[in-house]
Parts: sequence; C-alpha cells; structure tokens
Amino acid sequence: IPVEQFDLIIFGGTGDLARRKILPGLFKRFADGQVPEGSRIIGAARSEMDQAAFLTFAEEAVRDAEGDKIDATVLKDFLAILDYVAIDALGEEGWSALAEKMREGPVRAFYFSVGPSLFDDLARRLQQYDLVKPDTRIVVEKPFGHDLETARALNKVLSAHFDESQIYRIDHYLGKETVQNLMAVRFGNMLFEPLWNSQYIDHVQITVAETVGVGGRGGYYDKSGAMRDMVQNHLMQLLCLTAMEPPAKFDPDAVRDEKLKVIRALEPVEPHQIVRGQYDKTDSESNFRDDVENPSSKTESFVALKCHVGNWRWAGTPFYLRTGKRLEARDSEIIVVFKSTPHSIFGSDAGGGHNELRIQLQPDEGITLKVTIKEPGPGGMRLMDVPLDMSFAETLGEHADTPDAYERLIMDVIRGNQTLFMRDDEVEAAWAWTDPIIQGWEAVHDVPKPYDSYSQGPTDATLLMQRDGREWREIGA
Ligand code: BG6
Repeated sequence: IPVEQFDLIIFGGTGDLARRKILPGLFKRFADGQVPEGSRIIGAARSEMDQAAFLTFAEEAVRDAEGDKIDATVLKDFLAILDYVAIDALGEEGWSALAEKMREGPVRAFYFSVGPSLFDDLARRLQQYDLVKPDTRIVVEKPFGHDLETARALNKVLSAHFDESQIYRIDHYLGKETVQNLMAVRFGNMLFEPLWNSQYIDHVQITVAETVGVGGRGGYYDKSGAMRDMVQNHLMQLLCLTAMEPPAKFDPDAVRDEKLKVIRALEPVEPHQIVRGQYDKTDSESNFRDDVENPSSKTESFVALKCHVGNWRWAGTPFYLRTGKRLEARDSEIIVVFKSTPHSIFGSDAGGGHNELRIQLQPDEGITLKVTIKEPGPGGMRLMDVPLDMSFAETLGEHADTPDAYERLIMDVIRGNQTLFMRDDEVEAAWAWTDPIIQGWEAVHDVPKPYDSYSQGPTDATLLMQRDGREWREIGA
C-alpha cells in the first residue's frame, strides 16, 4: 500500500530508541524506495545539537544498524531529508522554529519518543502552536503506564488533546513479521480454525526468552519487572492473537474489538499458578541485584504463569506464558499443542498422535507442524511424530527479508492504519488483569526464586507444567 508524502517529527530524536530503531528503520524504508519524495524527518530534542551534529548522529545510527551493506549515495540522500530543531518540552524554546518548518499538505506525525511524564507538556505545546491538524498522528511508546491508574491518567492526558483515531500506541511485537503471520495462518487457512478450540487443543505455550540481562536499564527495570515490562504488553498481545475470535475484517477496530474481548475474558491468576524468578550469578556474570544496583531488589526478571480464557471456545484449555532475561537462549515462540487422538487403531503403545503447531518468532522465523507418521522399517506399525518444517528463510529465499518491527509500524502510522496499535481500552484492560497479580506479590512481600543465568529459569516453572502432566518445550532446543 503506497505511502503519502510525510513530515515525521521525532521528539526525543537524539535518544536511544531513535538511534537503535527509528532512524535505522526509516533508512531501510527509504533505501527500499518507500519514502515518497519531499518527505522529511525532523529530530527534535533538548540537546544543543545543530543540524550537522544531528546528521552525524543519524549517520552513525544507520551505520551501526546496517554495517557495511550501506550504499553511500542512498545514505547521503537519506541524510538530506533530515532536519533538526532544539526544543524544550517544558518551555517556549524551539517551538516557533518548529512551527515555521511545518507545511500544509503532507501527512504529519509526531513521535513521542520520550518518557510519559512529558506527554502532557508536549501535547499542550503542540496545541498552543496550532501544530495539530485533524489527521495529524501521535505515536507513543511503552511503558504505557505503571498500572491501571497511571495508564488511565495517560489516556486522559492524550484524549484531552487528541482524538483516539490520531493516537498510535506502539507495541513493537505487533510489528513483528511472524506475529502478523499468526493471523495469516489462523485466518487464511481452512486447516486450523475448525480445530482451534478446547475440544481439540490441549494447551498453548507462549515463551519469550532472552539471553540479555537488564543491561543499562537497571533503574527502569527494577521498578518494572518482567510482569510489567513483557507480560502486560507483548505476551498479552501474543495471547490475544492466538485466542481471539476471527474478526469480520482485517480492520483496526474489528481486530482490536476481538483482542479486547480476550483480555476481558481472562480469569484472575491464583498465586499457585504463577512463578517469579530473578537471575543469579554464574561464574563471571553479574546477578540481577548487581545489574539494577539494588542489593535487596525483589523485582522479577522471569515470570511463568498459567491462565484461562473464560469463554466457550477456550473453557478447559490453559495458556502457559513464560518470559525472562538471562535464559539459556533467545527463543520466542507460540506452541499450540493438540489433544492426542482419542483412539489408536494401532494399539495404545504404538506411539505418535501428538500434533503441535509451533510458530517461531525469534531468533529465526518459521512455522512447524508436528504430524504423526509410521516409523520407517519392517518392524510393524510403530508411529512417530515428525516436524513439517517451514523456515521462512529457506522456503522464501530472497523474499524472506523480514523487516524490523519498527519499519512496518512507522509506515503504518503514515498510512493511517491503526490495526497493529493498541487502543486505549485494550491497554487499560490488560492492566486491570495484571494489577491484582502484582498487588498480590507486594502484599506478601514476595521474593522471586533465584535461577542460574543462562538456564531454563527457576525449577518451579518446570513444576508448574509438570503438575498438570505437561512439559515446556526446552528453551533453545
Ligand atoms: C522491550 C522490553 O519492550 O522488549 C525489553 O522493554 C525487551 O526489556 C524487549 O528486551 C524485547 O524485544 P525483542 O524485539 O528484542 O524481543
């Protein structure tokens, strides 16, 4: 779908997200010829940079992300569409200069790549300087609130200045290619949807495992923890797309209505259905408490939980969610485990009969369907489960180039397509489900279980499944 000419203004344009994701993402779209001529990208930040310094910053950002692959002419042309304005969100400085740069005509989008405490000030200044037109778009990042109350307050701030149709709340997991593929697989095939319910599905596992620790984000992370940082948003979105009813159309409100129904149908999680962990030292590595510089931190870097979507489709089928840092491998996937065949004509000990659909998000993208076949050889009717494996890279070859989530999402902002962005009610519903879990921990001063760095996580997470006679797929297997 073509993109119209645009002016994209990035508040926080010299920040970490701009450097790692936004500028490299825009460069790639530009290099692919997806940025219409005459479009502009304006960095806005408090830093006393001038135009030239911002171009150097942007060039380094692109080079860091792209390595040697860069075509020097393309890079030069890209830098030519960049501009910079030093601006103070809390004062008057820079706002007139920004207003002068604005043009009538192109799509206008303001990217709030700043902490949420600045949203109100930015929104007020935008209004004061009359920079917001009816189809102007506002992009905001997580963390979208710390709990239900703060999320509501943020929604209130935004809705005081903008219409919901102008607000694009990013959950970058929705921009991942395989996450969208999940919808394609579910709703583009006849094969799965008739079986997609508790009559045929035993359980679903959703894992987002990382090897990294908290890195340089200790201050933020110690106040957040895995539940707020990952479960409330990314895992919740994966759960929604797996569990939702087929929307009538692939359009923003049809999709978001269905996701919202899933979140609202989630049953509360009992304390015995959830395991919190915190990574510990192995040899030379630091432990979590060192990394967040808080020797008594009780924040979790790992969560595993079992939950139920209380509706007709899913009654009796548990969803197991797991995420953590410093785990054995970077490995993210959704596994739909089907029930065993009700009767084996080959005898109860013939084996096989375990179908599984695995949608792998990271590190490589692909889909695997486990089917049962006969074990080769003359030895009678023994069965085995084998994977029908589709690695996107192998099957699609040169067409497998999977864009970074931000490339897709920023272009969707310009196109004015909100399907892959979170609506206000969705975010609030997700917090309404998460809050009691966190409050429960706080009430009892819960201490997370230590686990070895680069392991499978705390043993209690394994037991959570084993108690139900089930097993996690091994991380990194
Ligand atoms: C972010 C979290 O939203 O997602 C990080 O704040 C996490 O803690 C990151 O590392 C994971 O994203 P990805 O795309 O690398 O899986």
